[in-house]
Amino acid sequence: MNPDNLTALITGSTRGIGYHSAALLLQRGVRVYINGRDRQQTTAAARSLDESGMQALPLAFDATDADQCEAACAALSGGVDILVNNAGIFPDAATAALDIDEATLNRAWSLNFLAGWRLVSLLMPGMRSRGFGRVVNLTSGYASLNKPGRNLLAYRASKAALNMLTTTLAAELDEQEDVKVRAVDPGWVRTDMGGEQAPRSPEEAAGDVVWTAMAADAASGALFRYREPVSW
Ligand SMILES: NC(=O)c1ccc[n+]([C@@H]2O[C@H](COP(=O)([O-])OP(=O)(O)OC[C@H]3O[C@@H](n4cnc5c(N)ncnc54)[C@H](OP(=O)(O)O)[C@@H]3O)[C@@H](O)[C@H]2O)c1
Repeated sequence: MNPDNLTALITGSTRGIGYHSAALLLQRGVRVYINGRDRQQTTAAARSLDESGMQALPLAFDATDADQCEAACAALSGGVDILVNNAGIFPDAATAALDIDEATLNRAWSLNFLAGWRLVSLLMPGMRSRGFGRVVNLTSGYASLNKPGRNLLAYRASKAALNMLTTTLAAELDEQEDVKVRAVDPGWVRTDMGGEQAPRSPEEAAGDVVWTAMAADAASGALFRYREPVSW
């Protein structure tokens, strides 16, 4: 894999883990589409990453909007080689399962799962026809069925569905194809979502995301935490 010829789309890369993942991929010579909902913020983020002449390209769209996703993917004339489904929300930290409202469940489902499925549906056929592709899904330990806990049902369930997307897609791909689908749990990270108390920096988490995308020998259909395969 020659990074100079690769193109990536990272959803939710105007800040946080997505932004720093973009910076690391750009440093490796990958051309990166920067995404967020707001056109100005997305352009500003891409410009700030592009300072040293790297190829950060703004692509503003709302990943929960099917029409916007289709239009954005249609604008990617050559498709992408790497898709990082990073955009996510954490909407129900202190709410018990029976107190959640349907709107919150739908918002989490719509971004944390459905947007990833939609973008894969739009972009993976191109990866398969070109014979190379990497999909990285940002998940969380909160989605693990082995670690049940209180609250966060919207977040847990939507990320668990994203995990299922990871394993199902990988199982449907031919083993001979160089198209890999992986999930990464970045740990608890100091971002707008993770807050200031989180122990990991977004740069550290981004290093794991990029490793998950680029690792030549890492399995497909697997979950990685701190660059090691872990159980779902
Ligand atoms: N932080 C943690 O501790 C942690 C732990 C485990 C997993 N994760 C996962 O890691 C990923 C990144 O988290 P983060 O902490 O970096 O989050 P963050 O700082 O809140 O950033 C979220 C990004 O998503 C974008 N976004 C939100 N809604 C969007 C939409 N509808 N369409 C397109 N982009 C959208 C935001 O951009 P705009 O607002 O500009 O649109 C922003 O760039 C998430 O999937 C999260 O669940 C985070």
